[in-house]
Amino acid sequence: MEREKISLQLLIHDLKVPLAVIEAGVTSLLGKLDRYGPLTEKQEKVLQRTLRNTRVIQALVNDSLELERSKEGVVNITQLKVSDLIEEALVEIFDLVDHETSEKIRVCTDLKQMKGTLDENGVTLMIDEGLWCQELLLDEAKIKQILRNLLNNALKYRKSRVELRIEKGQNSLLFSVKDDGEGIPSTHHKKIFESYFQMEPTGAYSVRGHGLGLAGVMVLVEGMGGELRLQSDQGKGAEFMVKLPLKTTKP
Ligand SMILES: Nc1ncnc2c1ncn2[C@@H]1O[C@H](COP(=O)(O)OP(=O)(O)OP(=O)(O)O)[C@@H](O)[C@H]1O
Ligand SMILES: [Mg+2]
Repeated sequence: MEREKISLQLLIHDLKVPLAVIEAGVTSLLGKLDRYGPLTEKQEKVLQRTLRNTRVIQALVNDSLELERSKEGVVNITQLKVSDLIEEALVEIFDLVDHETSEKIRVCTDLKQMKGTLDENGVTLMIDEGLWCQELLLDEAKIKQILRNLLNNALKYRKSRVELRIEKGQNSLLFSVKDDGEGIPSTHHKKIFESYFQMEPTGAYSVRGHGLGLAGVMVLVEGMGGELRLQSDQGKGAEFMVKLPLKTTKP
């Protein structure tokens, strides 16, 4: 990596410690009332908003570091349970938009409960019990970042529903994120993976992004030797499909 980029990455990296201190401090104020004293309803709301937004910055810092690692070809494979990976990714996503739902997802104890909770929030989770309980060798941070970006888009651009499907092929893991929104005309299927490209907004989105999410997803998927496909047409929703090769032994 060239010098300038390293110093920028180091600067981003060094944001992690002060952010962790802020997060721990606010979490303590909210959780240890016996130690720090009671809070008024208004104070609690302000602190909760502070905490949520601190976590947004933390996720962004991690994403930025992970993306650069991917460009440099660094992989970090660990053995992890599919259910943990999906649950954590969903908690992170909903934490940014709807804290109450993220709490409900976090306390789910089995797949049936998880499917029910998500269904109430317009998300259909399709995965079989066997795969849900399986442990696989995966690059956790990169897969979470991919899912976060695709699901954030789907939740942002949907009319009402999103479908998340996870399947295992012979030597691969497949994720599909589908929504029922306005879709993407075929003339834009290449362009939307370019940095900063955004289509003309049709809905009233509360937060306008930067047109970077999908470009990042492409870098991550390709960095893992996977494939990213889009199936969509104007007015017909969008489906993003990710196929990742599965490792059977640790590198
Ligand atoms: N599921 C989708 N349905 C319809 N359009 C989409 C969908 N996902 C992405 N797009 C279009 O592709 C563009 C690029 O998406 P991308 O995720 O890269 O950026 P963004 O969501 O606008 O911002 P960011 O992800 O940086 O916050 C979006 O602005 C939108 O026009
Ligand atoms: Mg996006």
